Amino acid sequence: MARIIAGIAASHVPAIGVAVDRGMTGTPYWEPLFKGFAPVREWLAKLAPDVAIIVYNDHANALSLEIIPTFMIGVADQFPIADEGFGPRPVPGVQGCAPLAWHLAESLILDEFDMTIANEMPVDHGLTVPLSITCGQPAAWPFRVIPICVNVVQYPPPTGARCFKLGQAIRRAVDKFDQDLRVVIYGTGGMSHQLQGERAGLINSRFDAAFLDGMTRDPLALTKITHTEYMREAGSEGIEMVMWHVMRGALDEHVAEIYRHYHVPASNTAAGVLILENRSAA
Ligand code: DHB
Ligand code: FE
Repeated sequence: MARIIAGIAASHVPAIGVAVDRGMTGTPYWEPLFKGFAPVREWLAKLAPDVAIIVYNDHANALSLEIIPTFMIGVADQFPIADEGFGPRPVPGVQGCAPLAWHLAESLILDEFDMTIANEMPVDHGLTVPLSITCGQPAAWPFRVIPICVNVVQYPPPTGARCFKLGQAIRRAVDKFDQDLRVVIYGTGGMSHQLQGERAGLINSRFDAAFLDGMTRDPLALTKITHTEYMREAGSEGIEMVMWHVMRGALDEHVAEIYRHYHVPASNTAAGVLILENRSAA
């Protein structure tokens, strides 16, 4: 039987990817951030999962603003790296896991989550930066990946509560898959940031700290945060944090917090990393 053994939350700031790709992780600006990523890489290398379900948002790269699915699952055997305007990042291509992805698509849709199915899609910094943060610079990514995209680009995005329920449905689906696979799930994006308008540069460390605490201790309370509250407290792009709820919904009610790291600034953003392990997997 497949099992979800842990969840990882990670910001996906594109400049973090640039720092990795250009060998700048030891500079005075980036060093404190990357120091905080090292324990994540050690933990994940030891865990050696078979598959990662990565919940992220596309930033108008795979999808234009013509068609915007609320939830989309990638069922391909591989996913090329998106060209976001400066050529694709020099990172390995992403290998999919079609058998589990198709099982997830079927199970989620029959469980009343109307997933869009992507047979082909390039993956952008929303997915590749969390891979770089957690895996470093390997010649090939050490596990297969199932991308799940959430719309947080065009209003209205899904609620945190809906995202949490999607996570619960992912858990039910994985539990029913009959191959022995050890699965981790990533929730990406955030934390507080606003890239535009009068409040560009907004960071709310108090909100972020409470969010990190709540993820471990009382995730259901966090699912009640409304879109307006995300906008007001965490900035317009802070809405990306709804994707963390998908990850959390896929875990046990009680989890062990293995690690957290929070650093400001990373480009315009407060960068957070959190590792949660299922007690049932111990
Ligand atoms: C930044 C952060 C993001 O989440 C993103 O998608 C693009 C840019 C930033 O901080 O620069
Ligand atoms: Fe983003």
